[in-house]
Amino acid sequence: MAILKIIEHPNEILSTECEEVFVFNNKLRKLIKNMYETMIEHDGVGLAAPQVGVNLRIAIVDINDENGLIELINPVIIEETGKITEVEGCLSFPGIYGDVTRPHEIKVKAQNAKGKQFTLSAVGFLARAISHEIDHLNGILFTSKVEKFYELETLEG
Ligand code: CO
Repeated sequence: MAILKIIEHPNEILSTECEEVFVFNNKLRKLIKNMYETMIEHDGVGLAAPQVGVNLRIAIVDINDENGLIELINPVIIEETGKITEVEGCLSFPGIYGDVTRPHEIKVKAQNAKGKQFTLSAVGFLARAISHEIDHLNGILFTSKVEKFYELETLEG
């Protein structure tokens, strides 16, 4: 396993729409393992493939709840309910945080690392993390949705 380099803003790949995954092989599973190592190393709760320089619709989320690691290949939000505004950040924007409004509850259709289809319902912070990562796959950065930015020291103080 390996810790990958996280691509930080500004970089073209972060605003490029990613391509669908058709091949579910060991190379894909190795990439996901390395993405997981990288996310843990940086204390993240989610990571999308373009953040490690791979232009494919792959994202992982782990908010340290009972769901554990969620692997999302070709994920699509098929249902959204409610709206909630909370502060969030992104490993590609170190030190930058801001208020973003996202759906309170989502239903997602995706494939796992073996290509098996599944649907997942998520509420609150998990819904926020998944929605943030799916945005990455569409080249959408959270900063484009921020209603109010915060300095790092404002949050820590
Ligand atoms: Co992000």
